[in-house]
Order: sequence, then C-alpha cells, then structure tokens
Amino acid sequence: MTQNKQLPKIALGAWAWGNDGTFGGKLTAEELRPVFDAAMKAGLNLWDTAYVYGMGASEKTLGSFLRTVPRDSYLISDKFTPQCADPSAENAVTAMYETSAKLLGTDYMDIYWIHNPVGAPEWTRKLIPLAKSGKIGRIGLSNHNLAELKEAAEILEKEGLKISAVQNHYSLLNRSSETSGILDYCKDNDITFFSYMVLEQGALSGKYDTKHPFPEDSDRGAVYNPMLPQLEKLNSGLKEIADKHGVAIAQLPVAWAIAKGTLPIIGVTKVYQVEDAVKAAALKLTDEEIETMERLASETPLNVIRGWEKEMK
Ligand SMILES: NC(=O)c1ccc[n+]([C@@H]2O[C@H](COP(=O)([O-])OP(=O)(O)OC[C@H]3O[C@@H](n4cnc5c(N)ncnc54)[C@H](OP(=O)(O)O)[C@@H]3O)[C@@H](O)[C@H]2O)c1
Repeated sequence: MTQNKQLPKIALGAWAWGNDGTFGGKLTAEELRPVFDAAMKAGLNLWDTAYVYGMGASEKTLGSFLRTVPRDSYLISDKFTPQCADPSAENAVTAMYETSAKLLGTDYMDIYWIHNPVGAPEWTRKLIPLAKSGKIGRIGLSNHNLAELKEAAEILEKEGLKISAVQNHYSLLNRSSETSGILDYCKDNDITFFSYMVLEQGALSGKYDTKHPFPEDSDRGAVYNPMLPQLEKLNSGLKEIADKHGVAIAQLPVAWAIAKGTLPIIGVTKVYQVEDAVKAAALKLTDEEIETMERLASETPLNVIRGWEKEMK
C-alpha cells in the first residue's frame, strides 16, 4: 500500500449515510451509489466515515461501493470513537479499527482518528501499536483543543510518530479553531486541518430556509430550524456573492474553507452536491468577498457548538 498519498482539496463525508437520525429520512445504497460514482469520477476520492455513524451502517454502505473499485483509487478516513469503546477488548482502539476495516473491506486506513478527547490522552497511547504496524497512513485527532493536541503530540513524538491531521468543526459561524490558534499550530507543524460542518449540515447551503425547513424528525432540524430566521441575512449575503460568480450558494462556504488553508469535509447525499463540491474547489473568492462573508457571519451570533464538541479556546 502506498503510504500518504496526496490528498484532494476536498474530502467527502458519509455521516448521513449512517441513517442514525441526525439528518432525517433514510438513504439507501441504491440512491447513494450514483453519488459515490460521480465523486470518484471527479477525483474526489477521500471518504470520511466512522463506526458511530449508524453503528457500522455508514461504513457498510461505503464499503459495499469501495469493494468494487481498486484499493489504490481511494483514500479512507475512519475514526475510533471513545464512547463506543469495547470495555472487554485488550486494546479498544485496535478492536474498533478491525471492525471498521472489515466493514469497509480494507486492511489499511489512510487516516485514522481519535474522534474526540473523552478519556484523552489514553486513546492516543492505545493507537501507537496500530500506527507502528503500518496499518495507518496518517494519525488524526478530532475535536481536541490546542492543549490536548500538544499533549498528544508529545506522546507520539516519544514513539517517533506525529499528528498528521486535525479535524474540527470550522465554519463561517464557528471559527474557534482559528481564533484559538489551532489553525496556526497546524500550519507550523505540517498538520493538515480538516474542517467539518462547513455547511452547518445544510444551514449555509441555500437549500434550507424558513420556507424550506430541515426535516422535523432530525437532530439537525431540532438545532437549526429555530435559527433559520436569524440566518436569512447571512444567506442572502452569500446569495449575492454566489450570483456574481454564477454559482450555487453552497459553493461559497466550501471555497471559503479552502481559502483559509483548510481541507473541508463535505457531507454529500446527492449527485448535484458532488458537482457543487467539485466546482467549489476551483472557485476563487476575492479578499473583499471573504471579508464580507466573515463580517455577515459575525453579525449572526448563533451558538452552533454541538453536544459532542466544545468551543476551542
Ligand atoms: N469529527 C467529527 O466529530 C465530525 C462531526 C461532524 C461531521 N464530521 C464529518 O464531516 C462531514 C461533513 O459534516 P456533515 O455531513 O455533518 O455536514 P455538512 O457537510 O455541513 O452538511 C452536509 C449536508 O449539507 C447539504 N448539502 C451538501 N452539499 C450541498 C449542496 N451543494 N447544496 C445544497 N445542500 C448541500 C446536504 O443536506 P441534504 O442531505 O439534506 O441534501 C448534506 O447532508 C460528515 O459527513 C463527517 O464525515 C465529523
């Protein structure tokens, strides 16, 4: 297996593929296959998932597609979630890795993450045998603050290993990884910063508004539906910029995240969303447009920090 293949500008996220109630509705493998095919054809071949996304359901669907293409045509990004650790396992990190690898049909993870710092830094220590066995291309830490990252980096360094990737919530409405210095820390230490929920699960995509709310039966509906009236000004500002470029609104937050030096992970459930992601990777925003987007967002003081995460300080 080629280690550390070059990363595309955008990763695609398969949380919604797990049908765990976060997004609402139910996606089938038949619906998702064209999404996967369109992405692979366009060169968006880095897939982010986790066992916890439907307790294996996301990995199972993704794995059924990955089995039909050569292993060297894609990169997989998967996670160890502390809350799902098997207490009876000798090494819960290795045990979850093996379960996920089987579901995906691979014996190698291009990136393997500690999903969150609950119980940190023990899980970083437990990841070391896997990393040394050559079954992981890059070590990633997700939802860790700067102090937690530095603590993990020190542990890994003693073993001749390093953090290669950080994955945090980073969007126009939550820039705490930037203001807390995590983005700069990553730049200084040759760590790729992956931004998740750049579209705030659709709230900054132009698809959802007061007239077209999120599914009522979903976690994201419970969080974002009450915010939709306050988001109108920001979204109409995004629309103005999008119209100037002749692109869809959803492309702007993605292009913004790339312009900020991050690698966005975009959750996709439809073919047109893959097409938007491809176009967003080529979209160049001016400094003035970036300033306008950030100003409009700062005038929309909403708390979008979710239950599993914290504001980075
Ligand atoms: N490490 C962590 O703790 C963590 C946490 C959250 C997410 N993640 C990762 O990051 C990925 C992205 O986050 P996310 O999926 O939660 O949220 P997201 O990327 O902010 O939003 C995804 C949703 O936005 C809508 N969308 C996407 N592209 C669109 C377009 N071009 N036009 C209109 N709507 C569009 C879709 O909604 P519809 O499906 O309704 O069409 C999609 O489900 C996840 O899939 C996961 O892999 C990691």
